[in-house]
Amino acid sequence: MQDFKGVSRRTFVRTAAGALAAGVGASAGLTWFPAASHARMKNLRGAADRINIGVIGTGGQGTWHVQNLLSKAERENVAVTMVCDVYKRRLENARKLIKGDEKSAVMEYERILDNKDVHAVLISTPDHWHVKMAIEAMEAGKDVYVEKPLSHTIEQAIACRNAVRKSGRVLAVGPQRTSEQRWWSAGEAIRAGRIGPVVWSQGSYCRNSREGQFNWRIDPDAGPSATAGEGYVDWDRWLGHQHGLAEKIPWNADHFFRFRKYYAYNGGVATDLMYHWLTPLLLSIHGPDGAYPRRVMSGGGQYIEKDGRDIADTMLLTADYDTHSVFLTSVMVNDVGVPEMIRGQQGQLEPTGDGWSVKEQGTWAREFRKANGIEIKEVEAQGRKRLEPPAGQATSSIKAPGNKDGRDHVENWIDALRGKAKVNCNVELGCAAMVAIKMGVESYRQSKVFTWDAKNEKIVG
Ligand SMILES: NC(=O)c1ccc[n+]([C@@H]2O[C@H](COP(=O)([O-])OP(=O)(O)OC[C@H]3O[C@@H](n4cnc5c(N)ncnc54)[C@H](O)[C@@H]3O)[C@@H](O)[C@H]2O)c1
Repeated sequence: MQDFKGVSRRTFVRTAAGALAAGVGASAGLTWFPAASHARMKNLRGAADRINIGVIGTGGQGTWHVQNLLSKAERENVAVTMVCDVYKRRLENARKLIKGDEKSAVMEYERILDNKDVHAVLISTPDHWHVKMAIEAMEAGKDVYVEKPLSHTIEQAIACRNAVRKSGRVLAVGPQRTSEQRWWSAGEAIRAGRIGPVVWSQGSYCRNSREGQFNWRIDPDAGPSATAGEGYVDWDRWLGHQHGLAEKIPWNADHFFRFRKYYAYNGGVATDLMYHWLTPLLLSIHGPDGAYPRRVMSGGGQYIEKDGRDIADTMLLTADYDTHSVFLTSVMVNDVGVPEMIRGQQGQLEPTGDGWSVKEQGTWAREFRKANGIEIKEVEAQGRKRLEPPAGQATSSIKAPGNKDGRDHVENWIDALRGKAKVNCNVELGCAAMVAIKMGVESYRQSKVFTWDAKNEKIVG
């Protein structure tokens, strides 16, 4: 295991600390702060200034980001001026998309960070690289969009959170549901007391496939020995073993093309999919900075997908917070999940196509109706007074279609780069969610229940 004990973790912590110190004279304590305040000023780019973006990792999601940014380029006054990937074919494809010259497409992300004309980077590599790149980008004076999940390990997530706090840079984390208005409206409803105190909530991300989940196409000519054509992969740079990000292993196409199947690089369905639900649930229940769990436990198993992968095909995770619990499921061999829901003592929020249905708990019907502005009507029935509609049957609704402020997740980041908005998934929320999700991964893997030592920011098993 690579992230909770042993060399790799120590190496990363050292790397992260070193990265924070390197080049910014942290020991003198001076250079960092001026750099940060300069950075903060640069965050507030005027509407007229073009924002130049470098995209690091141009595989499936990174290519989507490149195309998406290109489609918005004129309207948003942004440009993708550099791209980076360690797989030549994907890099070349991205270079063609941005119509760049040779210098615009690089295999070493450091060359993007060195380019002063690049203002912001979008990181879409596998998870084990996210935080190292994000911290180094911030040190280089760049703002960051980092794909979900924030990191591979808890230590990385905290290092990244602390680096953002210290530098004042803009950093958005990628779970796009946090930009949906309905989660922000759910939060308003909760804080207005419309369902009473939140007790538990749930979310689900389930799929089914004949070929095995994540068994995506492998290019047969790809690998580190394919030096002639476009198949070349800088495998060492993909692994990042020099930095303690993963173990050094010989070329493995399944690991490269299907990294989600292996715990060395991510947390399987928990980091890939559950993270998408936990972030908006925490946003609604706790607000934009989320909250850290008290205890996390997971169950599940690898019941069907036994093709040499590590990860569970069926995972059920429970995270207890100080005042409520969250239940998440992610199953890759049956696509019927549990519906998303937020339950309070007096009512619950159930999703509709464009918002929420707010449903009452009969026991608390009067309180619920008062909090939801529903007239309390009583009728005589069989010599007794009862509520009309009967207790347990009143509903209210929340219309919250589309995205917050009409801006999607990437547009929200662009607004934040211009100082016009706060990012919808900030590093506080990204880190808090990461802690719970990673505790869940380790709970499953180690058959243990983990608690969170909030003071020392460590997990206790
Ligand atoms: N928000 C979403 O809905 C969403 C959807 C898909 C993926 N993602 C996230 O995006 C990330 C990438 O996922 P993917 O499916 O695109 O994976 P992918 O394997 O298709 O792409 C990752 C790319 O990063 C490149 N890479 C690896 N190490 C690198 C390095 N050191 N320098 C430069 N490039 C490097 C790889 O060569 C690869 O092309 C993951 O963290 C994933 O969780 C988010």
